[in-house]
Amino acid sequence: MAELSLNNIVKRYGALEIIHGADLDVKDGEFVVFVGPSGCGKSTLLRMIAGLEDITGGELKIGGRLVNDVEPADRGIAMVFQSYALYPHLTVEENLSFGLRMNGNPKADTERRVRHVAEILQITELMKRRPRQLSGGQRQRVAIGRAIVREPQVFLFDEPLSNLDAELRVQMRVEISRLHKQLGTTMIYVTHDQTEAMTLADKIVVLRAGNIEQIGAPLDLYDDPANQFVAGFVGSPKMNFVEAEVVDVQAGKATVVLTGDKTVRLKVPLSDPSVTSGAAITLGIRPEHFGVAGQGEADLTVAVDVAEHLGNTSYIYANLGAEQLIIEQPESRSLGKTETLTVSLPAARTFLFDAAGKRLR
Ligand SMILES: Nc1ncnc2c1ncn2[C@@H]1O[C@H](COP(=O)(O)OP(=O)(O)OP(=O)(O)O)[C@@H](O)[C@H]1O
Ligand SMILES: [Mg+2]
Repeated sequence: MAELSLNNIVKRYGALEIIHGADLDVKDGEFVVFVGPSGCGKSTLLRMIAGLEDITGGELKIGGRLVNDVEPADRGIAMVFQSYALYPHLTVEENLSFGLRMNGNPKADTERRVRHVAEILQITELMKRRPRQLSGGQRQRVAIGRAIVREPQVFLFDEPLSNLDAELRVQMRVEISRLHKQLGTTMIYVTHDQTEAMTLADKIVVLRAGNIEQIGAPLDLYDDPANQFVAGFVGSPKMNFVEAEVVDVQAGKATVVLTGDKTVRLKVPLSDPSVTSGAAITLGIRPEHFGVAGQGEADLTVAVDVAEHLGNTSYIYANLGAEQLIIEQPESRSLGKTETLTVSLPAARTFLFDAAGKRLR
């Protein structure tokens, strides 16, 4: 087991800079999840930690040891990829033991480790099968098993579940969580999946275009995003952003009018003193935070476009002027098209951002 530290890590391909100086501390035994839009550098960062990509600048330490120039095999890490990449002609047992056998590990120890991993992952009865005789979930379990037998200090996962169907993903997600609890090993996990990030992570790292935007516990990012990008990225369905204007500032409170419906006025506390009357801003509110009409600081009437009824809750896609909103309405199972819907806008649940996405409250 080991802690990890990234100090001003930079990655360049020729003149093109991909990672612009990443700082991150991962505690021993911590489960860290990297999220961010496609192309932001998640895999590149993970591959640099693994040693599969050179580090252009900065320092990478694993267990206190500088490993920038240490071979992948000597870093004490094991990586699981999206594609399982099992050897098709080998049995499950042979796939699991392959790396250890190649390294000349003593036979009895290899057998013990493979047996132990098979028990942990409940694949003992599959040991004599070949990969093509397994389901996708079983194959991914073998791929994870192959990482576990190496008894690494750090596990790295790059979207390990994205080839699986929805139900299996949920099942494997729970298994990975259980595995982390059982092994207590440091894990770094890349995913596109909101739920995976929120449920697995002790700490989420949000990346954008090669920069770390925010690092924090899942619920801290949800409750207290550093900027509009993080606010829009964490949470599903995502936070609504509507255009608004500040029409008055007094005693730390701003009166805000929505551009899509100028009759909607809302008084909100403001933490940034630089905001003045006339400023164009963006108001953020999560789908689940609209309230019952009449019970918030202001009411908002929208035209329903599409209503998705999922049973446990409903998502209403609605228009406010030219803008589209998503409103969660757990109790509105019968709401249909062409209706209007009035909800309240609770001031305490709103966020304000300036034109550059900086958070103003
Ligand atoms: N060998 C390379 N040469 C030049 N640019 C590269 C190379 N490999 C990756 N990149 C670029 O680096 C950036 C980050 O890529 P990376 O694969 O890390 O993104 P990602 O966040 O993992 O995306 P995804 O979610 O799609 O997997 C991308 O813009 C990509 O085009
Ligand atoms: Mg990737």
